[in-house]
Amino acid sequence: MAVDLLLGLQWGDEGKGKIVDVLTKNYDIIARFQGGPNAGHTLEFDGIKHVLHTIPSGIFHKNATNIVGNGVVIDPVIFKKELDALKKFNLDIKSILLISRKAHLILPTHRLLDAASEASKGKAKIGSTLKGIGPTYMDKTGRNGMRIGDLELDNWKEKYRALANKHEAMIDFYNVDIQYDLKELEEQFCNAVEELKQLTFIDSEEYLYQAQKQGKKILAEGAQGSLLDIDFGTYPYVTSSNTTAAGACTGLGVAPNQIGDVKGIFKAYATRVGSGPFPTELFDEVGETMGRVGNEFGATTGRPRRCGWLDLVALKYAVRVNGVTELMMMKGDVLSGFKTLKVATAYTYKGKEIMHLPYNIEAENVSPVYKEMDGWAEDLTQMTKVEEFPKALNNYIDFLEKELEVPIKIVSVGPDRTQTIHR
Ligand code: IMP
Repeated sequence: MAVDLLLGLQWGDEGKGKIVDVLTKNYDIIARFQGGPNAGHTLEFDGIKHVLHTIPSGIFHKNATNIVGNGVVIDPVIFKKELDALKKFNLDIKSILLISRKAHLILPTHRLLDAASEASKGKAKIGSTLKGIGPTYMDKTGRNGMRIGDLELDNWKEKYRALANKHEAMIDFYNVDIQYDLKELEEQFCNAVEELKQLTFIDSEEYLYQAQKQGKKILAEGAQGSLLDIDFGTYPYVTSSNTTAAGACTGLGVAPNQIGDVKGIFKAYATRVGSGPFPTELFDEVGETMGRVGNEFGATTGRPRRCGWLDLVALKYAVRVNGVTELMMMKGDVLSGFKTLKVATAYTYKGKEIMHLPYNIEAENVSPVYKEMDGWAEDLTQMTKVEEFPKALNNYIDFLEKELEVPIKIVSVGPDRTQTIHR
């Protein structure tokens, strides 16, 4: 039985949480494979809005087992808060949430290092969520990290101390003004670790192998988006993991030939939080309207998201890098009311028109070439079937499908589970 993937194709915040929640009824297992609490997956159902950071978005479905894979980085303090917020739902967390022993731990000093590194960069800062993601992955690849499985050892606190001491020296090296009370942070950390230790730790690659053999249906849930991928994103303004399809293989221990459908999610326009290139960014009232109507504020940091037109050059790149087999277009409803819509179909780069993403897409090198299309005035949020779609929306979808050469199977017209139209 193949493992299907669900991936964000832009700069994150495409609406993966909602779609995983909608799709979970078709799966036995939902598995996160990379990233950490920098993610904010928002789910809305029965009038409740819930934001998840590390816990997979299948958690509200009793039929699904949720796995936090080896490629994820876990902050016990944030994880505990997530668990606390789930208490009111009376879920049997110990049996429906399983954590890989190989997942790495975010220590309080990783968060401090993230802050020190950003402060030292001045204007060149990445715009990190400051959750300690970069420093934790640095310790992972530097072979210094602490893993969930270490918490089962008697000497985990010694391991912790040695690493935290090293981090403190590194924080001093940055020589920036970071105020912190490590004692208090450590107390929080140790309390949270005790709670984390009550959960079920597994060897997730073995678990998933056996589950596949038993014919279980598995969905791997991505975090962030392709353009934030450490290798293929707009480096250095990226996150520190592989957000693209290959990351699911290394982040779960699933072989490439076991991957089935690759579901790619994109917004009908584009957004980005943090710094970095964004060729179709709007600085006018059109962008402001998108942000206001689309409620474009970071689910993790609350920062306003930068907004712009859909960038087909970047989207085609993401479709190719991931091998996307079906698409889902989110937030179509937010574009209602614009008389004219624009879609970037090429860039002007060094005086020439190009159709691919060049090495350096800083604003001064690249300007988008737009195709203009008619907008639609109708409110889409109450629509329940494709037949109700206005002609201009159908034209927009048909144009994108033709350009991307992949079918758009779902159009989302609002944040609620029910506002999801299958084509
Ligand atoms: P970090 O992963 O927290 O270090 O942040 C690196 C970059 O990725 C920053 O520009 C963040 O705003 C962005 N980023 C990280 N996680 C998310 C996410 O879940 N959605 C959107 N952007 C994100």
